[in-house]
Amino acid sequence: MGFLQVLLFLHLFQKLSAQSPSPPTNVTSSSLDSILQDYSFRAFVNPRTGILYDAASPSNFTGIKLAAMRLRSGSFRKYGVHSLKEFSIPTGVTVKPYVTRLVLVYQNLANYSQFYYPLPGYDYVAPVLGLLAYDAKNLSAVNLPELELTALNGSISISFADLERIPQGSGAKCVSFDSRGKATFKDSVRNTCETVKQGHFSVVVKSVASAPSPKREKRSEDSAKTWIIVGSVVGGLILLGLLVCLVMRCRSYKKEEKIREMERAGETGEALRMTQVGETRAPTATSTRTQPMLETEYAA
Ligand SMILES: *[C@@H]1O[C@H](CO)[C@@H](O)[C@H](O)[C@H]1NC(C)=O
Ligand SMILES: *[C@@H]1O[C@H](CO)[C@@H](O)[C@H](O)[C@H]1NC(C)=O
Ligand SMILES: *[C@@H]1O[C@H](CO)[C@@H](O)[C@H](O)[C@H]1NC(C)=O
Ligand SMILES: *[C@@H]1O[C@H](CO)[C@@H](O)[C@H](O)[C@H]1NC(C)=O
Ligand SMILES: *[C@@H]1O[C@H](CO)[C@@H](O)[C@H](O)[C@H]1NC(C)=O
Repeated sequence: MGFLQVLLFLHLFQKLSAQSPSPPTNVTSSSLDSILQDYSFRAFVNPRTGILYDAASPSNFTGIKLAAMRLRSGSFRKYGVHSLKEFSIPTGVTVKPYVTRLVLVYQNLANYSQFYYPLPGYDYVAPVLGLLAYDAKNLSAVNLPELELTALNGSISISFADLERIPQGSGAKCVSFDSRGKATFKDSVRNTCETVKQGHFSVVVKSVASAPSPKREKRSEDSAKTWIIVGSVVGGLILLGLLVCLVMRCRSYKKEEKIREMERAGETGEALRMTQVGETRAPTATSTRTQPMLETEYAA
């Protein structure tokens, strides 16, 4: 009974503790965009249009790479941006709602990709890259809404530079996330992905371990196994303790019984045989190895 209760308790405990995510932040992907918008705009100190400025990422998001470029909407549409890190933006991209100047924000989420854009059943082989657009009217503004980019004349291409080794036989897929975090998959052609909108992009492969069981579930399955083992050990120890208690109790009961018996025997003078040794009566057990003797016997 103790064992099962311990198991049940441990399971409940594990379920409760599994609910808090591992990284120490409850920032969602869209609030992360807001934070990164703020930080990327800070790179602009007397900015020139059409120049890409690298920005410092927040100290609690080390590893994330940021860059920003300010442009006139007219020239953006007319010329595009041939090279903005991994992105290449063709001519004919419209901006909605209309703004005179816009800021293009580049994000490389590096090792935060998996956390902010979890994809059960897939492994990232590239970091999640973001391309977002904002109004450039006020460069100290925060919580700006995103602008809608639409490529009318050919798509925006993304050449992933540092792809991790893709496992053999697994086709790499391009994944893109819209502003609500909805994922769309397309086949990747030579490490290049295409989009006609702003958003977040990466390359993934199907999880090797077990395609039908997503990584997160697997992890919790593993920890469930761990808890079962811990539970069994603890339960086993408790059971052992109970057993030891029981044995001790039995023993002490037996001892008490013996003492009681001896006491009883003492009263009736039955249990111990008294033997006459010389002139003295001495108690002996039936199988005493050396009979008690008195020195006076030798003398006599
Ligand atoms: C990280 O920094 C940003 C900006 O400074 C802040 O809004 C956010 O709450 C911080 N997150 C944590 C977990 O400290
Ligand atoms: C994070 O959680 C705290 C309390 O749990 C809450 O007050 C805060 O608004 C949350 N932040 C975000 C960005 O969700
Ligand atoms: C990402 O890597 C940086 C160092 O490059 C580290 O400080 C940070 O804690 C890592 N974040 C996560 C979520 O692994
Ligand atoms: C569309 O792209 C082609 C070449 O890529 C270019 O010649 C043409 O002017 C573009 N049209 C618009 C409307 O930007
Ligand atoms: C720009 O935005 C900042 C922060 O929201 C605000 O304090 C400031 O008044 C704004 N400037 C203009 C000219 O709107």
